Amino acid sequence: MTDPPLPVIAIDGPAGAGKSTTAREVARRMGLCWVDTGAMYRAVTLWFLRHGIEPVSGEPVREALGGISVDLVPEGEALRVLLCGEDVTERIRQADVNRAVSRVARLPQVRDALVRWQRRLAARGGVVMEGRDIGTVVCPLAPVKVFLYAELTTRASRRALELAARGDVVDGESVRRDLAMRDTADSTRDIAPLVPAEDAVSLDTSNLTIEDQVEAVIRIARAKGYGPAGGASD
Ligand code: CDP
Repeated sequence: MTDPPLPVIAIDGPAGAGKSTTAREVARRMGLCWVDTGAMYRAVTLWFLRHGIEPVSGEPVREALGGISVDLVPEGEALRVLLCGEDVTERIRQADVNRAVSRVARLPQVRDALVRWQRRLAARGGVVMEGRDIGTVVCPLAPVKVFLYAELTTRASRRALELAARGDVVDGESVRRDLAMRDTADSTRDIAPLVPAEDAVSLDTSNLTIEDQVEAVIRIARAKGYGPAGGASD
């Protein structure tokens, strides 16, 4: 008897829709790996900022990408992000990276490289991968695709709470502006824009709790034949 296939669960959506919390918890309950692709774009952005690399297509970008490694290392409930071996987990959530990431993420060379890394991570299945283009570009054949969204005001207040809980000084208006700007940049770019895959199940999380969201995703996975143990059920 062959083992049942391990699922790829693709979770896409804009910032603050609850992707990371949902992906982490679904992965934990189903015994899968959590892959936060936004953290990978953030780590590359930090490298560009530190090395003064302008986010325009060309040789410096190509060269930089050849020399960068980004690793996601599970640690308890968290996912540590290593940039060339350095732990940058907290650093990549700071304002300078927030402001620059969408300009870096729209570069074709950056997307090519990261999509290649991400497909390698998804190749054996058994992952919950979250981002903007997982269901449309990175894993278009993923059997389970979910698109999480919520009103901007709701997403901005969630993000502000998250930042405050981390001890950051929070200006609600600038959090809202950052999300709105990234929404526009991510949804209108030429390559891999933020749009739901045609076969994704869309979930408005504005009035859902995290528990609701997690259960909804697990229900969708079950309906496709994947049980909590990570393999196909029955
Ligand atoms: O955590 P948050 O929702 O704020 O954003 P993120 O998931 O960390 O992603 C940061 C940025 O990376 C996004 O605003 C996109 O510009 C880019 N991104 C992308 O282009 N494609 C992905 N698959 C994931 C992130």
